[in-house]
Amino acid sequence: MKISVIGCGYLGAVHAACMAELGHDVVGIDVDAAKIASLAAGAAPFFEPGLPELLSSGVASGRLRFSTDIAEARGATVHFVAVGTPQKPGSDAADLRFVDASFEALLEHVGPGDLVVGKSTVPVGTASRLAETVEAAGATLAWNPEFLREGFAVQDTISPDRLVYGVRDGDDTSVATLDAVYASAIAAETPRLVTDYATAELVKVAANAFLATKISFINAMSVVADATGANITQLADAIGHDARIGRRFLNAGVGFGGGCLPKDIRGFMARADELGVGESLAFLKNVDAINLAQRERVVQLAVEAAGGDLTGTRVAILGLAFKPDSDDVRDSPALDVAARLVSLGAIVKATDPEAIETSRRVHPDLDYVATVDEAAAEADIVVLLTEWKQYRELDPAELASITSGRTIIDGRNVLDSSRWRGAGWEYRGLGRP
Ligand code: UDX
Repeated sequence: MKISVIGCGYLGAVHAACMAELGHDVVGIDVDAAKIASLAAGAAPFFEPGLPELLSSGVASGRLRFSTDIAEARGATVHFVAVGTPQKPGSDAADLRFVDASFEALLEHVGPGDLVVGKSTVPVGTASRLAETVEAAGATLAWNPEFLREGFAVQDTISPDRLVYGVRDGDDTSVATLDAVYASAIAAETPRLVTDYATAELVKVAANAFLATKISFINAMSVVADATGANITQLADAIGHDARIGRRFLNAGVGFGGGCLPKDIRGFMARADELGVGESLAFLKNVDAINLAQRERVVQLAVEAAGGDLTGTRVAILGLAFKPDSDDVRDSPALDVAARLVSLGAIVKATDPEAIETSRRVHPDLDYVATVDEAAAEADIVVLLTEWKQYRELDPAELASITSGRTIIDGRNVLDSSRWRGAGWEYRGLGRP
């Protein structure tokens, strides 16, 4: 099939490369010329495991092209719109500027009978509004939310755990077209749900709201654990054995960040307010507040470790990305904590295997170093904030040979506290006695 993908950010670039991998003829389109130049050369403009291989094989096969010219969408019969919906500056609501501009530009080039497929995360009600303009152009709209996780984006796209198609009532043609698009991705047992537009839009934000709530729930429990001497990891293991609860997304720590969870719960609350049902989502305010408070908890652990005043204390920060296997620092708790420590007078050296360049764009003044050894040399306090594998596997004795102090703050609760204490470290986690 001939497919266009409008928007080549995290979502669109991965989607375009995966669609080519599935055998389709794909053009990826974006207004960012530098991004398109990189993608067209088969290079990923951001870190995502497995993506560079797919880009270079797709480009080499001729099945994957990239362009800044929206007119290149002409000739494709299925058009995915995968542009960003960031938080509006000064507001909680989602900014639909890029979605609206993309639809407007794309609709000049769609042919009769084409299928336009929205993938962006949008406030509920957006699809039915856009459907009218799509239908006026002779095409049809489907809403097909994307659940990929950064770091697993290729895997999640090629073998999704479910597919959701939001279509007009009785629109079997669009369902059949989407089935054909995903034919080689859908394992026989992959659940495929056909819904109306509103449900499809809500599935995405509801899923992210649930995940955010699960993380904030366990982080709230970690505060109680600290007040009582209980152990949050054992608590999570124990409640996680209840299949109704499940162990995943119950890791207490410095909290969630990234381009989705924080802005999606805020956008969801803003939309619920507009719909007059804001009260029903008021609990998400707490979810957000608990999450942000975790950052301050980590900062306070550092202040305590420094004896009440961080001025002149040397702090090594391990990890800047919002999670491992990503160079994404959007709303990253790690980068936020690093900046707060600096503002409190600490002398911070920060490192990350992939996210130094992206961090530099947000906080140009932080002192970034390439390796753990450089960050930790002469440090008084070491703070682990993103659980990259190489940090989880650090040898406490080796690290102690280069630091000046012996305090490790484990902002992700991933280190073996007894091993670190055994090696002479003062170990502090969140909700770990
Ligand atoms: C998320 C959703 O998982 C995905 O389905 C959706 O499509 C986009 O948003 P992503 O932002 O890539 O994906 O990251 P995710 O793996 O969900 O992690 C989000 C944040 O939560 C990270 O900062 C992570 O460190 C944090 N987290 C996750 C925890 O603090 N504790 C946990 O137990 C799990």
